[in-house]
Amino acid sequence: MARRHHAGGYELTKPVYFIGFMGAGKTSVSQYLAKTLGLASIDADEYLELLEDRIIADIFAEEGEESFRDLETQYLEELSRRSPRFIGCGGGVVKRPKNITIMKTHGYAVYLGVTAEEASHRIPNTDSRPLFKDIETARRTVAERIPLYEAAADVYVETTGYSVPEIADQVEAILLENGILVKED
Ligand code: S3P
Repeated sequence: MARRHHAGGYELTKPVYFIGFMGAGKTSVSQYLAKTLGLASIDADEYLELLEDRIIADIFAEEGEESFRDLETQYLEELSRRSPRFIGCGGGVVKRPKNITIMKTHGYAVYLGVTAEEASHRIPNTDSRPLFKDIETARRTVAERIPLYEAAADVYVETTGYSVPEIADQVEAILLENGILVKED
């Protein structure tokens, strides 16, 4: 049973990055934790879209993936220097070794695990995700990225079969245990 908290009384000692494949629940879990703990969260892709004033699908279509990855690194670095918050990262953030270094230097990375099948059920409109394409491609991408997610992660949390509150509870316990989330006196 998921526990509920009243907002307030907690702080993060460093940024917490959520990494994992599209549909792993990075944004939902990050927002849920922020709300229940009274802390800040941000979706790295939304931040990028806001500051670039363009949607990711258009950046991919107009300039290609490499340009998007450059922007992703730039904004990840920027967000990492701000006061600690929950950061929902794009699924491909681990493709650049520099991003892994940024996360290791500044914060704590939670790898939310999901299968390609489960992700395809969770994502209602894959048109907005230029790299999702079809289930076969998704399966291949997940397989390719597993070693990268593992290299970047401080901890792994399985999400298949669990609700957002259940996953959030598990993450919260891990963060408390590791001193990443602390209760204010
Ligand atoms: C990508 C995942 C997307 C977004 C972009 C590329 C990827 O983020 O950054 O479409 O390479 O897996 P979500 O994981 O939030 O969908």
